[in-house]
Amino acid sequence: MIKKRIIVLASGSGSNFQALIDYAKNNEVSYEICGLIVNIPNVYAIERAKIANIPSKTINHKNYENRADFEIALHDAFIEMGAQIVVCAGFMRILGADFVNKWDGKMINIHPSLLPKYKGLHTHQRAIEAGDKYGGCTVHFVNSGVDEGAIIGQAQVPIFESDNEQDLAKRVLEKEHKLFPICLEMVASNQAKLEKGKCLIDGVEKIISL
Ligand code: GRF
Repeated sequence: MIKKRIIVLASGSGSNFQALIDYAKNNEVSYEICGLIVNIPNVYAIERAKIANIPSKTINHKNYENRADFEIALHDAFIEMGAQIVVCAGFMRILGADFVNKWDGKMINIHPSLLPKYKGLHTHQRAIEAGDKYGGCTVHFVNSGVDEGAIIGQAQVPIFESDNEQDLAKRVLEKEHKLFPICLEMVASNQAKLEKGKCLIDGVEKIISL
């Protein structure tokens, strides 16, 4: 089978990036990770790429006068690396509509909350402060809204009275590492598709639930 060429965007540790690498090692998958792009120099995700023999590139947003120039550099790198699907794995930059629309249905993101609850940052603290009984994570197609694209999959975890933000983040991250590769595989194998703003799995509007 011809594997889809994946480019991963990260801004930090890259544990989700690592989960995608490991899943591909241990399973028959329809994707191959052809490159990593980070926007912050020397983050640990680069080390993970080196160990896995995946080419990496640092495109530091601080080196560009404006977001449009930064996104042109990103897009050029995607083309150069032959990207067919772009995977945001802890990528902490907001991408503009023009840029995102070029990758409509071919860009996915993982977010550490049960969207549509808690878009944006500090998701775990907000869930704890709201007294929620459950937290979780969501994989979705990226659109021009922030954390608003069609949902592909979700995984839920309990929130305990004694939890602090770190406790919940750790519990959710473990689920992220399981959910993300499965959702990526569904997109790479064309089982999950974006159609008219909805995620269709095998032609039916539904999401993957772990
Ligand atoms: C994850 O919790 C992800 O949901 C969020 O940022 C974190 C990235 O972690 N967007 P890592 O860099 O993949 O370890």
